[in-house]
Amino acid sequence: MADLDGTKQEKKDKEYYTDLPQESPGYFLKGSHQYDWGLKNRLAKVFNPKNGRTIMLAFDHGYFQGPTTGLERVDQTILPLEPYCDCLMLTRGIQRAVIPASTQKAIALRASGGTSMARPEYLSDEVLACSIEEAVRLNASVLAVQVFIGSEHEKATIKNMTTLIDEANRYGIAVMGVVAVGTSMERTPKYFRLATRIMAELGCHLVKCYHTDEEFDTITSCCPVPIVIAGGKKRPELDALKMAYYACEQGASGVDMGRNIFQSDAPVAMMRAVRGVVHEGLKPEEGYQMYQDLKAQETEAAPATA
Ligand code: R5P
Repeated sequence: MADLDGTKQEKKDKEYYTDLPQESPGYFLKGSHQYDWGLKNRLAKVFNPKNGRTIMLAFDHGYFQGPTTGLERVDQTILPLEPYCDCLMLTRGIQRAVIPASTQKAIALRASGGTSMARPEYLSDEVLACSIEEAVRLNASVLAVQVFIGSEHEKATIKNMTTLIDEANRYGIAVMGVVAVGTSMERTPKYFRLATRIMAELGCHLVKCYHTDEEFDTITSCCPVPIVIAGGKKRPELDALKMAYYACEQGASGVDMGRNIFQSDAPVAMMRAVRGVVHEGLKPEEGYQMYQDLKAQETEAAPATA
């Protein structure tokens, strides 16, 4: 009879803190303070609550490119990087086949597809390629959907996005709109302002686009939800670190980077250097020094080949 025992001792043992009003703390992430608990909790697994930034490791390229350089064997090349990122951006096939279910990292699941590099002229003709029940089964925190603003399939891909948002909102899962950049679309601040703002207005919880050398701060400023940058094609390590650093300085909430990490000569060193720049306050040059030092250590530790 625990209840009765408790009643007898109520005055003596209970503390109601009547002089302390209950706090209503805010939420750390841009535009996200009015979401429900589950969605906020998922976003807090993706974005570090201490600085509002994330390092998403993108290796979903196979969904339309097949065995992309550096991703021929995800078990060999990506698993060593897993400890240093915040979130794994991937397809459901790779998640089930390769990623240990014991991972503590957040999952950003590719949810659109249906086209391939075999017919590049049709790349924008995507459909939704993952149900919301699959997303729940796979414990996704984020669902990624490609949107081709300005393309022939603009309306259909926006519809993919809004349908996914409606479904994801039922379960408190975030949707990341991915700004697709085809040959017919510009990579200008004007275009990215347009595309990211449209996605946010229509309900995306975060948006991915490319960094621009000019006016990037205007893109982040007029987008009411977090923006993360894609890395794009492989470039020299110092350039990639500068891009990550300046994007965050100019209002990005982190990176969703793939090729510039897994196609590096020393992927673990590069992954850790990106972490240094995004999360640990390193300047790009300091991050590059870290990359070189770690790369040298890896080379020394590697067994000599005949
Ligand atoms: C494209 O296939 C995917 O959306 C990638 O996740 C995205 O492009 C980011 O990867 P990367 O840094 O290689 O551009």
